[in-house]
Amino acid sequence: MTEASVIMAKSVTIPELTDVPVHVGVIMDGNGRWAKKRGLPRKFGHREGVKVFRSITRRAKALGIKYITFYAFSTENWKRPKDEVDAIMELFEKNLDEVKDFIDEEIRVRFIGDRSALSPTLQAKMLNTEKSSEHFTGTTMILAINYGGQDEICRAAVKAAEKVKNGELDTADITPDVLSGFLDAPDIPPLDYVIRPSGEMRLSNFMIWQAAYAEYYFTDILWPDFKDEDFDKAIMEFANRGRRFGGVK
Ligand code: FPP
Repeated sequence: MTEASVIMAKSVTIPELTDVPVHVGVIMDGNGRWAKKRGLPRKFGHREGVKVFRSITRRAKALGIKYITFYAFSTENWKRPKDEVDAIMELFEKNLDEVKDFIDEEIRVRFIGDRSALSPTLQAKMLNTEKSSEHFTGTTMILAINYGGQDEICRAAVKAAEKVKNGELDTADITPDVLSGFLDAPDIPPLDYVIRPSGEMRLSNFMIWQAAYAEYYFTDILWPDFKDEDFDKAIMEFANRGRRFGGVK
């Protein structure tokens, strides 16, 4: 455990951390099991999951985390029953209407993923939310919607290929740095830390390019039960990881 003294900020206890990751990714998993345990339809788990998402976004800001990306809907999630997909899409729309409070709190909101398959209403709300918050420089919350790491890399490769075709880019100049410039949010730094609740220990196609040197944190807690204190604990653990980025220390 790192040196973590505790200070009081307003009425909330915020741990004072020594080594906070710049970019944290969160795979919000376990909503379905949470609902099933209570005999409820899966969509109730997602609804509960949104409350946790809102709270953890605020917590990230309080802890001084610059970027936090949530895996909200994958390119593979369309395979779920239609009523569950519809319920999740409805949650996106409703929450983008309510995102005003994030904007009041000066949290920048961005999205990654292939928007073209989303409803025009949702796409318009996403654009609008991005525009209304683009001037904030503190914490950025990124939602991955219709997102798949392989899909993102593939779309980046197509964009690069188009430039080669137009004579604007030479294949000999394509390096990892150049290709990463074609990703959905090329200005956002790579992931330092990936948190996955619910006991599953895999990446599930989440930011596979950006997670190349990320550290991982797994916990059995289901996402709807994940509390601010659980997040604090995960972030404190990050300071114990000796990162070498392929080098030696
Ligand atoms: C994974 O749990 C969760 C999802 C695929 C959806 C997550 C979506 C939300 C929390 C709604 C997001 C909305 C906003 C506005 C952020 P699972 O259903 O796979 O759980 P299981 O593994 O227990 O079945």
